[in-house]
Amino acid sequence: MNLFRYNFAARMKKKKKITITVDGYSSCGKSTFAKAIASELDYLYIDSGAMYRAVTLYCLRRGYVSRGVADAGSVVSLLPEISITFLLNRETGFNETVLNGENVEREIRDRAVSDNVSAVSTIPEVRRKLVELQREIGAGGGIVMDGRDIGTVVFPEAELKIFMTATPEVRARRRYLELLGKGLPADYAAVEKNINDRDRIDSSREVSPLRRADDAVVLDNSNMTPAEQMVWFRKLYTQTLNGS
Ligand code: DC
Repeated sequence: MNLFRYNFAARMKKKKKITITVDGYSSCGKSTFAKAIASELDYLYIDSGAMYRAVTLYCLRRGYVSRGVADAGSVVSLLPEISITFLLNRETGFNETVLNGENVEREIRDRAVSDNVSAVSTIPEVRRKLVELQREIGAGGGIVMDGRDIGTVVFPEAELKIFMTATPEVRARRRYLELLGKGLPADYAAVEKNINDRDRIDSSREVSPLRRADDAVVLDNSNMTPAEQMVWFRKLYTQTLNGS
């Protein structure tokens, strides 16, 4: 850790804890960025996409979603059986997703889940249940939550809202390399198609479509390193706390 970062983190930990929302397109580095700022500020980080993925995994196992089409009536009837919690992984310092007592953090990243999650997340009852849970988790502030509708629907009063974007080519490349890095099977054309499909469904769905909140600050990180994004964030965070 360099000295500037250390001083910044030490100073900021003493400040009032606010709510920070990070929305944006898939695979533009939201979770990497959100995790980095949460760990610097000593805030809780919650990946709301993981919750939609966990519900999707449950539905996949029951056969209520496949090939990108969900049987909404059956999915809604399953909702009371689904419990989603988070478990701190002490090694990484981050939460992992637990579905009905089972740690599914790895499985929810599988291609089968990615290909079906948009269909499940357009169901209004699914969104209602997860938004309620997200608000409960974030009630006390001191949280960074990333997703698609966190600044617009879940925490419209959040003190700091960031909307992330990057070109589709940059996002597809990052996702492809991430899958390879995890030792998972990866096909570049399939990854690109999944990203384009999800952009279209996430932005055009009727309930809580992906859109930038009017008061969100845009971060286009197509040509930015993680370190450059942190420099950008520190400035924004300081301005926010100083009310300018
Ligand atoms: O962030 P992610 O790619 O893991 O999210 C998976 C899917 O969940 C994404 O395609 C859209 C959906 N999602 C959502 O509808 N609302 C959120 N707040 C977060 C994710």
